[in-house]
Amino acid sequence: MANQAATSIDFRQEAQVVADWIARYLEESEKYPVLSKAKPGEIRNALPTHPPISAETLQSVMNDFEKIILPGITHWNHPRFFAYFPITSAPPGILGEFLSAALNVNGMLWRSSPSATELEEVVVDWLRQMLALPKPLFGMITDTASISTFYALAAAREALNLGIREHGMSGRSDLPKLTVYASEQAHSSVEKGAIVLGLGQENFRKIAVDQDFRMRPDLLLQAIAADRAKGYRPTGVVATIGTTSTTSVDPVFAIAEICEKEKLWLHVDAAYAGSAAILPEMRQSFAGVEKADSFTFNPHKWLATPVDCSILYTRKPEILKRAFSLVPEYLRTDEPESVHNFMDYGIQLGRRFRALKLWFVIRMFGKEGLKNAIRTQIDLAQEFARWIDQDSNFERMAPVPFSTICFRLVKKGLANEAIDKINEKLLNRVNESGKIFISHTKLNDRFILRLAIANYRTEHRHVQEAWELIKGEGTRLLASSR
Ligand SMILES: Cc1ncc(COP(=O)(O)O)c(C=O)c1O
Repeated sequence: MANQAATSIDFRQEAQVVADWIARYLEESEKYPVLSKAKPGEIRNALPTHPPISAETLQSVMNDFEKIILPGITHWNHPRFFAYFPITSAPPGILGEFLSAALNVNGMLWRSSPSATELEEVVVDWLRQMLALPKPLFGMITDTASISTFYALAAAREALNLGIREHGMSGRSDLPKLTVYASEQAHSSVEKGAIVLGLGQENFRKIAVDQDFRMRPDLLLQAIAADRAKGYRPTGVVATIGTTSTTSVDPVFAIAEICEKEKLWLHVDAAYAGSAAILPEMRQSFAGVEKADSFTFNPHKWLATPVDCSILYTRKPEILKRAFSLVPEYLRTDEPESVHNFMDYGIQLGRRFRALKLWFVIRMFGKEGLKNAIRTQIDLAQEFARWIDQDSNFERMAPVPFSTICFRLVKKGLANEAIDKINEKLLNRVNESGKIFISHTKLNDRFILRLAIANYRTEHRHVQEAWELIKGEGTRLLASSR
């Protein structure tokens, strides 16, 4: 007899219970402390060490979900979540995920679910149009920008035609050192990609930035020349639009010209900021991306799509395919060449049907809905930046090209080390309040607070509440400091 949980004769009722819970949670997400107050091990210790022998009811699982799991949740859905890059789980994406789990298809081959492949092709092309990226452009969905960038670097390495796919890299005296370049503000995933590809950390060049944290093309050029002089083989450059700490924008156009001249693969990492290209008024930050060999951005960061969902575009899909395609007999099909089997363009065989949630998001928000949300968040961030600029107890530490503000508390006559300590205290105090969650970074060796606005539920009042809390705690800390 079939297992009752597997056939789910009560599924309609159970789905209703969960749907009601989600609806209430989304309406009330503000009532939770943003940052979980759980201590390490607390959640694990509250859970049984052994799995249940027989089936339990949804009610008993939900009871434990509320009692044990929920207290250990940091609420990324909270409108006062301002740390890292905030994200949004909006109903359209949740509904798409729900259906995707129900269909449970594996989109490794076109044949293994034609709709998964073809809807993916359509939605990535819709996004290409929305971001005003050039045509034609091959696009695919990956889980994260780290993987998208790793794939791009793998393609850059394959483009060298050094037989690495066939012969590997180790033990080869004919192979020069392969070097990759990114700014010192680039995300750590770029360096990780270089490590995993066997290039070695010492062949990853961190190019210095200007006073606004943008890669300096003159220093990039110098680094490439120095490497060539040593007999190394420059392989690729990663430019960032919207770096993680300050959201600075590398001069992609100038970098692209260097890559063109030097015949280097150019990958653009716009994991967070890419979504802002749906706004015509933000497109100046993206000048030059049309020259890139590959480009990535995450709809799961700023396009209201639940984690995970990243897009990798490339003008050279044949090279990406050359890097990754390996088809065992049991997966051979006789579809024409024009048919994409997405398993050919990455490491993983199995692929989730992520395009479905993206389709729901784009259709149920509409281009205008998404534009309005991002525009509002940029406006809110600009207003927060003005509050910082107008308050002599605070100092803004970087330009605000999108919706992220880097700032710190300052006091005349206090040494930088003491200022760092005060800011660290301020960070801990406001986060411990449970009312907001902000994060930090280091710029020019100084401890900096960082507030990012990218949750679609964040309204003016939430940003104002955050400012009042930061300002109030900051003023108290300054008064007590000598
Ligand atoms: C610029 C940039 N690139 C890459 C990443 C990594 O993103 P993911 O978590 O999708 O791997 C981040 C994360 O915030 C980022 O800011």
